Amino acid sequence: MSKQSIDDEYILEEKVPSPEEHFNLRKQAGLTPPPRPDNETSLKNTWFGVTIRTKQNGEAVSMGRIIGDGAIFCVVVDICTLPHHQRKGLGSKIMRALVEHTDKHAPNAQLSLLADPPGKVLYNRMGFVENKLETPMVRSTFFKAYARGQREE
Ligand SMILES: CC(C)(COP(=O)(O)OP(=O)(O)OC[C@H]1O[C@@H](n2cnc3c(N)ncnc32)[C@H](O)[C@@H]1OP(=O)(O)O)[C@@H](O)C(=O)NCCC(=O)NCCS
Repeated sequence: MSKQSIDDEYILEEKVPSPEEHFNLRKQAGLTPPPRPDNETSLKNTWFGVTIRTKQNGEAVSMGRIIGDGAIFCVVVDICTLPHHQRKGLGSKIMRALVEHTDKHAPNAQLSLLADPPGKVLYNRMGFVENKLETPMVRSTFFKAYARGQREE
């Protein structure tokens, strides 16, 4: 999809979606649905976030955000696009907005992320590379229990 047709159909807001939209976006995109009501606090603590909506009815169809200290250590999270709207360039538009904001407001920051397989090409194109010197390590009771089927949404 050309930049012009993306702009005809969609609008990018420099704002996170509502907690309900956040939950639905993650769930419909196949990511772990975030625990509620904690996602409300999580969204409030965002350093910079963006949402893409359809111009037709304002539906939130793609999002991404950065959490962190806004100066040295920042982490990209919640990159997702609803299935019907994927492969149209929205994920790339979201990532560009996040990277440009960081370059402008925190040029010395280390921007990191945990890449799920569908996002790898996108992240590589934006300059993210695997860091072979460090191993990503995660401690997460909710996400682990959800994956095992021991926690409901
Ligand atoms: C990854 C994701 C955010 C990309 O969003 P998108 O709006 O489709 O992004 P784009 O249209 O800009 O596509 C960028 C590139 O991502 C890759 N990509 C997108 N969707 C893909 C899919 N379903 N499978 C494999 N690669 C995919 C492609 O290489 C694509 O570039 P191309 O169309 O030029 O080949 C989207 O597929 C998604 O929400 N996936 C499920 C959630 C997820 O895994 N998020 C990443 C968490 S780390």
